[in-house]
Amino acid sequence: MKAREIIIVGGGLMGLTIALELQQRGQSVTILSQNLAAAAGHAAAGMLAPQAEGLAPGPMLDLCLRSRSAYPAWVAQLEGLSGQFVGYWPCGIMAPNADRPIAPDSPADWQDYAQLTATQPGLGPTVAGGWWFPEDAQVDNRALMRALFAAVQTTGIEVCDGIEVQSIATQQNHVTHLETSGGQWQAGQYVLATGAWSQAIAPIPVQPRKGQLLALRWPENARSEGWPLQCVLFGTEIYIVPRQDGRIIVGATSENVGFATGNTAAGVQHLLNAAIRLFPALATCELIETWWGYRPATPDELPILGASQWDNLTLATGHYRNGVLLAPITGQIIADWVVDRRADRALGDFSGGRFGA
Ligand code: GLY
Repeated sequence: MKAREIIIVGGGLMGLTIALELQQRGQSVTILSQNLAAAAGHAAAGMLAPQAEGLAPGPMLDLCLRSRSAYPAWVAQLEGLSGQFVGYWPCGIMAPNADRPIAPDSPADWQDYAQLTATQPGLGPTVAGGWWFPEDAQVDNRALMRALFAAVQTTGIEVCDGIEVQSIATQQNHVTHLETSGGQWQAGQYVLATGAWSQAIAPIPVQPRKGQLLALRWPENARSEGWPLQCVLFGTEIYIVPRQDGRIIVGATSENVGFATGNTAAGVQHLLNAAIRLFPALATCELIETWWGYRPATPDELPILGASQWDNLTLATGHYRNGVLLAPITGQIIADWVVDRRADRALGDFSGGRFGA
């Protein structure tokens, strides 16, 4: 059994991001992944929406805002390393609502229908008004995953796909090695970044929350100055994320059905009806793809970051609805902890200790 410096368990967005951050700080890193293609990062829509998600003021909103601020530099680094465009687009997110809120969180920002449509024409007649968050943004999450993987491959990071980690072998409060489908693996430090699959490996309360999504494409004749939708629409039932290449991502259901696979007729019907209600011109689009993924949800729907019950295993999981957004800040604060034992304030706020993990 060859001993490695750091093993990252999980080859999804978090695993790849943390691995790259550690490698950039001079660490030798190995990634063990059961199935690189299954990661939640592929399935998401790529919204960077701390404000549109309506997070209450507090540590989670702070963390999400920090990560949104970190995005431009992180994207530049990834695009530089990989030579690939990741589709970061600070297009703003509009959150239209059918009802004028009685007690809005931020009444000063409420815009009526006429104000919203001056920014984005074409909203459906059921919209009463809403909020406009010009600093929220989006990234093409699949392009991001491709670029991240390409960036990882330009480094000395060892990526081992098809390895299922079955259990963590420990002695007192120390991990001695991992038992895997590919034998025993040993390292000085371990990072667990296994998203919705975390509970199969360690006693961490993370459950899958399925989301169904679909993609549309504008007909060629819809284009004039640009495509008809130029910002993200974050409705009360669905969100609509237009890409610059004419695709539109519509998401997402939120279902407590374990790892049930497949798109359902009801799920797709709900997404299409709500999307067309919110932006009627979508009715002319071609339906080009449907898919689903699993958000990693903790009981309080907040991430688990930092120390575990074992002195050499760090947790980075449970990002729920905000994994794409939180990737850059997670990479930074987990690397600070693993390399220097420097504890960002988020490690206190999002400690697994709140669940005894
Ligand atoms: N971030 C949006 C979602 O999880 O559906």
